[in-house]
Amino acid sequence: MAEDMKTLEENFRQRNRSCFLLGASGETGSLLLQELLERNIFSKITIIGRRRLTFEGKAYENLVQEVVDFEKLDDYAAAFQGHDVGYCCLGTTRAKAGADGFFRVDHDYVLKSAELAKAGGCSQFHLESSRGADKNSNFLYLKVKGQVEADIEALDFERYSIYRPGVLLVDRRESRPGEWLARKFFGAVSAVCSTPMSIPIQVVAKAMVSNTLRQPEQKTEILENKAIGDLGKSTGK
Ligand SMILES: NC(=O)c1ccc[n+]([C@@H]2O[C@H](COP(=O)([O-])OP(=O)(O)OC[C@H]3O[C@@H](n4cnc5c(N)ncnc54)[C@H](OP(=O)(O)O)[C@@H]3O)[C@@H](O)[C@H]2O)c1
Repeated sequence: MAEDMKTLEENFRQRNRSCFLLGASGETGSLLLQELLERNIFSKITIIGRRRLTFEGKAYENLVQEVVDFEKLDDYAAAFQGHDVGYCCLGTTRAKAGADGFFRVDHDYVLKSAELAKAGGCSQFHLESSRGADKNSNFLYLKVKGQVEADIEALDFERYSIYRPGVLLVDRRESRPGEWLARKFFGAVSAVCSTPMSIPIQVVAKAMVSNTLRQPEQKTEILENKAIGDLGKSTGK
């Protein structure tokens, strides 16, 4: 399996592809960026966010930063042009942004970014969604996640991968009491391994990269928590 993954990485690397990443300052996104840099499968990685990030003096030759105003994304269409693959780990919470703000970020910003990327020639979109996402749900969180999943599918990317992790196991830099409680509960089962309901963010990040290297069975694929956990173990390291 490790050898297979190394071969897949090498084959992918030779195609000289570029990607962009939304949410690189967040918990999953920062690990995904680290994973992308370490595995070095893209010739160029563009992080698109609302603020410039610093990397403690480290310089990455193939890393580009684009700072955008998500309320005026049309003005920043150029940032979304010319990428082969897009990754999205963007998101907020209702507690932080209110119901309208949550919809604005987790639906509108994500969908608009996907639209601009598609118009700019991007062929693959990888979306970190959530376990239970369902556009018909009565719960705002799951409804919005399901709605944005469906709206992006309608854009008809050549490949569209939806990741639906359970509770993210993470030592979050910011305090979120509700999530902390869920983490304590699920994390009690295992802090480092996936459970049916939870998953460490490291595993999600590894899975998103490993999955990019594989040929999908379908144009649109949905990876539930277990599939993400299985894939996240097969990194070839
Ligand atoms: N928490 C869970 O247990 C769980 C479970 C399943 C799925 N998910 C989903 O997984 C995804 C990633 O979660 P995470 O916890 O890794 O994310 P996170 O740490 O909260 O990071 C969120 C990212 O979105 C950006 N963002 C938030 N509000 C924004 C705004 N108004 N304008 C522009 N950018 C904004 C943040 O940028 P700044 O750094 O600039 O704020 C950051 O890069 C989210 O979609 C989340 O809903 C979460």
